[in-house]
Amino acid sequence: EMSPVDKAKYVAARRAADMVQDGMRVGLGTGSTAVWMVRRLGERVKDEGLQIKGVPTSSRTAQLAREVGIEVVSLDQAGWLDMAIDGADEFDGELNLIKGGGGAHLQEKIVATASDRMVVIADAGKEVETLGAFPLPVEVVPFGWQTTRTLIEEALDTMDVLGTSTALRMNGEAPFVTDEGNHILDLHLQRIGNARQLALVLNQVPGVVENGLFIDICDKVVIGYGDGRVEVRD
Ligand code: A5P
Repeated sequence: EMSPVDKAKYVAARRAADMVQDGMRVGLGTGSTAVWMVRRLGERVKDEGLQIKGVPTSSRTAQLAREVGIEVVSLDQAGWLDMAIDGADEFDGELNLIKGGGGAHLQEKIVATASDRMVVIADAGKEVETLGAFPLPVEVVPFGWQTTRTLIEEALDTMDVLGTSTALRMNGEAPFVTDEGNHILDLHLQRIGNARQLALVLNQVPGVVENGLFIDICDKVVIGYGDGRVEVRD
């Protein structure tokens, strides 16, 4: 028996996977919701002979996509994508997002931006009035990361946010390392008053590779509920 949250993720993922059509080049997101989506696409490849090329957003997703029989190509081989389907950690009423809870937001943002449309799959609990309760992931290069953190904290002092504490993401005793060989700082902001401005300011700091705010990138959110209902917002 699935928990209500898992059921919600499952139905959203399945609905989005069923939007994919023959011949499409599809960005494959990362995370527990995206796993259901990739599995469903694999099913469709086997059962319907669906022909797609998949561009994974992480090494984890690449491995799963291959396992379920999806043809995997790199973004540069695909060139441009028809659709990217991915999870999110938060979405607001304007379909702006926080992503990167799984540490994959750099590749996810590149892939989503290289797609005609980005479809987000999420359980209803991820909808927020204002972004920021979920700690905002920022990918930073390892070189001088503590200096980068200080510069980020100074920048946050001038921003419309409630909290300003930052934490280096760990993997046991060692810093977490992304697929691109970088670290992640999680910014505990509680409430982001101006996400558009914050996204720009963070990426101005040397050492920052990419932040987890997705502004004007998502076109559609497929929202799953614990009772199996699905709502599409666009
Ligand atoms: C991965 O880096 C994230 O952007 C995920 O898309 C996000 O964390 C959603 O994950 P779940 O589907 O596991 O909630």
